[in-house]
Amino acid sequence: MNTSGQRQSRRFTVVPDGAKTLLTLLNAQGADIQAPCGGLGVCGKCIVRILSGYAGEPESAERVLLSAQQLSQGFRLACRTAVHEPLEVEVPHSGAETAGKGRLRVRGSRGSGGGWTEKRAVLLDEPQLGSRESELARLRRVIPGLSAQVDPAAVAELAAALTVGRTVTAVTAAGEAGQQQLLGCEAGDTSGILLGCAVDIGTTTVAVYLADVRRQTVIGSLSQANRQGRFGADVISRIDQFSREGGTELTSLVRTQVRTMIETLCSRCSAEPRQVYSVVCVGNPAMLHLFIGADPSGIALAPFTPVFTEQLLFPARTFGLGVSPAAAVCLLPGVSAYIGSDITAGIFSSGMDEEEGPVMLIDIGTNGEMVLTRGDAYWTCSTAAGPAFEGARIHCGCGGEAGAVDSFFLDEEGNCLFTTIGGEAPTCICGAGLVDIAAALLRAGIVDRRGKLRGFSEWSEHAAAPDEYKRRLSSRWTEYQGKAAWTVVPETGIIITQKDIRELQLAKAAIAAGIEILLKEAGIEPELLQKLYIAGGLGSSIRRESAASIGLFPAGLLERTAALGSSAGSGAVSALLDPGSFSQSYFRCSAAAYIELSARPDFSRIFAQSMFFPPQEPEATPA
Ligand code: FES
Repeated sequence: MNTSGQRQSRRFTVVPDGAKTLLTLLNAQGADIQAPCGGLGVCGKCIVRILSGYAGEPESAERVLLSAQQLSQGFRLACRTAVHEPLEVEVPHSGAETAGKGRLRVRGSRGSGGGWTEKRAVLLDEPQLGSRESELARLRRVIPGLSAQVDPAAVAELAAALTVGRTVTAVTAAGEAGQQQLLGCEAGDTSGILLGCAVDIGTTTVAVYLADVRRQTVIGSLSQANRQGRFGADVISRIDQFSREGGTELTSLVRTQVRTMIETLCSRCSAEPRQVYSVVCVGNPAMLHLFIGADPSGIALAPFTPVFTEQLLFPARTFGLGVSPAAAVCLLPGVSAYIGSDITAGIFSSGMDEEEGPVMLIDIGTNGEMVLTRGDAYWTCSTAAGPAFEGARIHCGCGGEAGAVDSFFLDEEGNCLFTTIGGEAPTCICGAGLVDIAAALLRAGIVDRRGKLRGFSEWSEHAAAPDEYKRRLSSRWTEYQGKAAWTVVPETGIIITQKDIRELQLAKAAIAAGIEILLKEAGIEPELLQKLYIAGGLGSSIRRESAASIGLFPAGLLERTAALGSSAGSGAVSALLDPGSFSQSYFRCSAAAYIELSARPDFSRIFAQSMFFPPQEPEATPA
């Protein structure tokens, strides 16, 4: 693992606090260290450096995951380090802003548009001596559609606005005449801009989009690693944390993160958070349960029953998001315990609900969620892909952050070419990079169909490649924990290990098996599939050819595959701008059949078969 600290590191001073680990103490100070394995000491992602103070002898897990040189330089696993005296610690990885999940694909407004709220600027009459009409009554007179229900903050804002002048802008919830609740008042005529936020709460990444609902455009976006990542990379580890310690910290972490992201975005766009009057949230069911503070444990245990999947509406003050306290916060509806609103939003943004089909969408993250539609019928399933595509459990893996190797190519002369996110110095490998590297090693015969990373002599003996090609690659072989490993970037020590290949096989087999079973269930041959949309963090950056090479989906579908980017974020924005059209789309898919893969007798066999990599094109190996 590269620990050279290409990016700015931060320093913290921690003092002992009972039995709390260094990881807990650092995160309590805002270090935001991700802990994909939940602090079990197996992923090696929580590396920090002790600058001063004695942190005790390293545990066995640290001796396994860190080299002797790293230990001698003071590097430790924060999750396995007890604190017995004050320590000064360097945290090499900020883990703050990420590259996001790719481009937005906002579905054009097909209904009335206009979002969840409306604004109207009015000029109120000057009060007259002898008149008993209150200011609120005067406002009601000029806006006759207002309902009797008024948010208290709106009354206070009306009073404040009238100290500035007699023109005020009333913000109301969208609705029929007579049912429009007054949500807020602003001084002067601000009706030209109507702000709303779409929030995609992913297990790995939280993304916030600021939109001008009036103009139907996104004016800013921000994406960060989910701060709950300190309790583990996957949904189950968060649910475990809720069961053990309660949800207070998990809920507070995500709400605080969303609030600070909205503040940052507004400040970048010269807007005030209080001008945001609608917030649309999507996420998998567990993430939305944690957002509102509901126990998600029913999601993890058969018969997999969430507390809610339907659309929920709350006033924003419930969550302390810093936006207008009366703003409507809407959690979009999902379908089942594992098909959440991130997927229904993805269906909406892809437009697949309007296609005759058959069309399939796969959202690849820590879980692989899939939707297949033909005509009016929908089938869905979810498969535990594991967090390999998000970089967890991969030795030099990481999320889509600046400096992550996101593409890799081995040319015919044995040169290794790669790119990184943001063009920064390479520090780690993200999911798209991992798929590319594996595909390149497969094509070169360095990895065989069973996933074995061949040693140099074995490869050299069998590879039909020129001597110069072999000589150029010979220095790439190394070892990690007694097994063959392969150097991706020698300068920064980025390697891919045998275990990484196995993790990738497990992840891709889960996805491939899900695709096969979903098609079987619907009685559709793969060659009849008209389109395969790939969404999620990986979906925006993955090279389709490499994905087909490793068998993520049938190679015959390559030409019909399209990367969707962040379909959940796009769908959330689209629903923010046009809630009526989202409702129509949801109506079509809400009765989708859910296929429980673990209950299928053929799942284990198909999964095991899918672990193999497909045969490679013979000409791919240099002659
Ligand atoms: S090794 Fe510390 S969080 Fe995984």
